[in-house]
Amino acid sequence: MRLYAEVLGLKHLHYGLWADDSFDLEGLKVAQDRFTDHLISLIGPAPKSVLDCGCGLGETAAKLTSLGYDVEALTPDPYQKEKVEARSDVTCHLGRFQDFRPSRRYDLVLMSESCSYIPVDGQIDAVKRVAAGGQWLVADYFVFKKDKSELGKNGHELDSFLAKCEAAGMVRDYEEDITERILPTLDLARKAIDDYALPMGKALSEWLEDRHPVLFPPILKMVLFFARKPIRKAESQRILLDRDAYRQARRYAIFRFAVPAEAD
Ligand SMILES: C[S@@+](CC[C@H](N)C(=O)[O-])C[C@H]1O[C@@H](n2cnc3c(N)ncnc32)[C@H](O)[C@@H]1O
Repeated sequence: MRLYAEVLGLKHLHYGLWADDSFDLEGLKVAQDRFTDHLISLIGPAPKSVLDCGCGLGETAAKLTSLGYDVEALTPDPYQKEKVEARSDVTCHLGRFQDFRPSRRYDLVLMSESCSYIPVDGQIDAVKRVAAGGQWLVADYFVFKKDKSELGKNGHELDSFLAKCEAAGMVRDYEEDITERILPTLDLARKAIDDYALPMGKALSEWLEDRHPVLFPPILKMVLFFARKPIRKAESQRILLDRDAYRQARRYAIFRFAVPAEAD
């Protein structure tokens, strides 16, 4: 999180919505702003009270406030709460959405890429509790089939998520598949690893070998031994950045629901 915010200078933690943007960090920032603007366009005009659930670094909440919405934010992460409160006057609640019991109601709950972090039943109950008669806007990736593979183990299963929403009385009134428009973010991450991270590692080991030809082999052996788990994990997670594999396993979607007026 700190890397995204402080080193890369990203204001958002989502994948973005790419159009004809430059294929670099600046392009990603433009795509991220477009994603947020698109979600805001689906909220409908202010005034409206909005809970930005899983608010990340607070950029969306600050933008909504500047547009005249009455916004509160929620995150279980103290670092994010600090960022949000430094960024604007938005009240930021610290905690998990499934445990959230505010003393007020909101017109809309926004989940900009936070839905996949929260258990489905817990979030549906919480949405009904905090936004009865209002709306729920979700943008996130879903998996076609939940399994133990890298691409299948995170994210909610799409059909089961939608079935649970329907059973809870949520009425879906907007739906959009933006999978193709998030894929450049995967390509960019892959390019960053191939162009920078791997060559830097190689250059560093060559430099060390040059400077310490006798010590280098045992040091390298030791580093590889202690780093074997993260190395194996990084290797297996490369599939997460493969656009064809991603397309086959996941769908990135936006859903808006009308929330039933009364909690059960
Ligand atoms: C990928 S980030 C998205 C951040 C932000 N909404 C954005 O679009 O940039 C996921 C967010 O979900 C939050 N989150 C994770 N678990 C949560 C939970 N149980 N309840 C509420 N938020 C949660 C994280 O702290 C983080 O803010």
